[in-house]
Amino acid sequence: MLGLKFETETSWADVAKNGLQQLLTDHAFAEQKAASNAVSIIINYSEETEMVKDMSDIAIEEMEHFRMVHHLMVDRGMVLGQATKNDYALKLQKFFPHTGNRKEALIHRLLVAALIEARSCERFKVFADNMEDEELSKFYIDLMISEANHYTLFLGYARKYMDKKIVDKKWNDLLSFEAEMMKNRGNMAKVHG
Ligand SMILES: [Fe+2]
Ligand SMILES: [Fe+2]
Repeated sequence: MLGLKFETETSWADVAKNGLQQLLTDHAFAEQKAASNAVSIIINYSEETEMVKDMSDIAIEEMEHFRMVHHLMVDRGMVLGQATKNDYALKLQKFFPHTGNRKEALIHRLLVAALIEARSCERFKVFADNMEDEELSKFYIDLMISEANHYTLFLGYARKYMDKKIVDKKWNDLLSFEAEMMKNRGNMAKVHG
């Protein structure tokens, strides 16, 4: 799915269901972080007019997702927990060596964002497919479609700003790194845990 090189086992869905409050808290903050990341790209690459337009849309959409998750929690009598670090994202962000080249740094950010979207999308599908609760299942299917569009958009911009071959090599390397990392996951009620 979406080029990912490792498939989440369905056992993760049980872990997620059993820790629903933690999963939803983690998910809500994942949406907030996605919004913050889009805003940060706008701040750092303000001259890229088309991209700024799209990142504005994404930032708004991700905060809308945050609101949806939060409402769902409140409706079910849950209180949003504390935000925690997303070690999955932090590890991905460290994969590419630091570069002084502004364009290259942008490509790296876009690729990491694309991958986070792709994995979220895959996890949402595993969750929805193994969920008896119809409201939650539908909720996650709808979000999955939205995150898949974000994935396409981030990857599309990465390929726009540098030779496609170079970008595809970076993308492939990142996918392999992530797949190794995911082999040791699937045991926490977190979107990327
Ligand atoms: Fe989202
Ligand atoms: Fe997204």
